[in-house]
Amino acid sequence: MPQDKKVERKPFIVFEGIDGVGKTTLSQRFAKEYNARWEPEPTDTGLGEKIRDILQGRIIGANPNTLRHLFAADRAQHSDFIKWALELDMVVLDRYCYSAYAYNMDTTAAKRDLSAEMEYLVMPDLVFLLDADPVKVRQRLEKRGTLQRFDDLDTQRQVRDRYLRLWREWPGFFVRIDASADLDSVYAKIQVYFNYWLERRRGLGLTGDAVSSIATNKDGSNPDQ
Ligand code: TYD
Repeated sequence: MPQDKKVERKPFIVFEGIDGVGKTTLSQRFAKEYNARWEPEPTDTGLGEKIRDILQGRIIGANPNTLRHLFAADRAQHSDFIKWALELDMVVLDRYCYSAYAYNMDTTAAKRDLSAEMEYLVMPDLVFLLDADPVKVRQRLEKRGTLQRFDDLDTQRQVRDRYLRLWREWPGFFVRIDASADLDSVYAKIQVYFNYWLERRRGLGLTGDAVSSIATNKDGSNPDQ
């Protein structure tokens, strides 16, 4: 849900996307360049560690509801911290509640819980969706020998479709960046868009063709290929 209140605080920016698409590398580089605090979800607290234990098979037998509630609990704590951190610094997150939407929305209860969760979470100002065809992402990971970070193709396709639904619903807030090119050119697009966004936030409203086409969901690259 886009932030609707005008608040005086530092920018809160989220990066989302399927496994292995380059979120961590790009969000860390972005945070460094803009002197922001970088945070991952699941977090590096005890709760986040439990989640990783489950995801990486060190704890077995957790059902999807347990995992979903653990993600939500981790995020509830994190949200409090983010509110506090935003008084001092810009905050950049590697995943947030949109991951819950993309990965965990298999039941009616899950949907209900997520909309309740979004009532109390601090909302970001902008979400970068790093988007690429799962087949291409898998090929890239294969080349690097890091395929273990990738779930099966059908799951990744479903996750991507859900992300694209959010992008269609919230143009200008949920910003799709075509992430199928090399990391440097993907990063350059993020920079261009973010600089434009910052100018607009400061009230200068400078737009160029490149950024306005991204903001209106018409950047020329077809997400359905
Ligand atoms: P992580 O090891 O951080 O993966 P990545 O490097 O790809 O970001 O693990 C995060 C995994 O948890 C990822 O597959 C997405 C999933 N996830 C959910 O299913 N629900 C959530 O609410 C969140 C935050 C993540």
